[in-house]
Amino acid sequence: MLVGGQGTRLRPLTMSAPKPMLPVAGVPVTAHMLARARDAGIDRVVLATSYKAEVFEAYFGDGAAHGLELAYVTEAEPMGTGGAIRNVASYLRSGPDEPVVIFNGDILSGLDIRAIVARHTSSGAAVTLHLTEVADPRAFGVVPTDPDGWVTAFLEKTPDPPTNLINAGCYVFRRSVIDQIPAGRPVSVERETFPGLLAAGVRIAAYLDNSYWLDLGTPAAFVKGSRDLVTGLIASSALPGPVGEALVLPGASVAADAKISGGSTIGAGAIVAAGAEVDGAVLFDGATIGAGAIVRDSVIGRDAVLGDGVVADGVVIGDGARIEPGNELRSGLRVFPGAVLAAGAVRFSSDRS
Ligand code: GTP
Repeated sequence: MLVGGQGTRLRPLTMSAPKPMLPVAGVPVTAHMLARARDAGIDRVVLATSYKAEVFEAYFGDGAAHGLELAYVTEAEPMGTGGAIRNVASYLRSGPDEPVVIFNGDILSGLDIRAIVARHTSSGAAVTLHLTEVADPRAFGVVPTDPDGWVTAFLEKTPDPPTNLINAGCYVFRRSVIDQIPAGRPVSVERETFPGLLAAGVRIAAYLDNSYWLDLGTPAAFVKGSRDLVTGLIASSALPGPVGEALVLPGASVAADAKISGGSTIGAGAIVAAGAEVDGAVLFDGATIGAGAIVRDSVIGRDAVLGDGVVADGVVIGDGARIEPGNELRSGLRVFPGAVLAAGAVRFSSDRS
């Protein structure tokens, strides 16, 4: 599982925690992914870490509490997606012709993991890619296929995509293919390994699975993913509570007349004061929402404080930031960790603090 990226699109949240460790629906993204892997019969996972590597082992330990055996391999310098896969080769226990499942660590998906492995094995492919169909594929790796389901090209973020099928970030590799990725230098599996294999005539199979799929890499997607887990649109056995309108974690305090809806998560120790409305939002642990404040489609970082009557709609508030009363934050605004917005500093603005 690849969990070493910098997560630049999710800044400033990723300034204090790596993206795969940010809590969606109460637990790290990685916890949901590991649960899916375990539920599909996988019993050992190697985490390829780089950025803020130490926090993964501190949280997951040897994996026993998650029903898995976990190993950690940290790159001294980020090796990119392909380099990270190559870097864990000596930790893999599969034989040369056996399958290894690779997961990008920032995807929420209903992919049938057993089925993609079965298809990989029966087709004899060197690599099998999970593809999914999206309305606008321009921001993704586009993967055209032939009528028999073999990949014909790999086009990373192209302005004029020939198909709506994209690389969904889960691969099954024949073990020997991993050993052939160049060692000791950064490699992108999307830009180098896959195009290189195709150019060499190696057969890459497509596995189309159009069940739930979401790349959690942007703030809007992050909020949506958390909501969808809480409301049960995508199932996860790692969800720390029953499916419903909201997930209120132990130690959170919500005033009787506050309204919590839309699949919001209220983190441990968070406070939602009287008359506040929290709709489709994610409050990290220890966040405080003042009386009468409105928080919608937003992420409120750890220990951040929103004053009475503040409006936060479609924004990201970094850890420990303080938004004083009289602010109205909208349209993708991001407040950096620890920043203080004085009373009335922002109204209807998309400025950055
Ligand atoms: P952005 O900077 O916002 O694009 O996010 P990112 O750094 O996570 O990059 P991207 O979403 O393209 O990465 C896909 C997956 O590969 C994520 O799960 C990353 O954690 C992981 N990843 C990306 N680069 C590296 C790397 O150099 N080493 C390791 N171990 N994992 C990586």
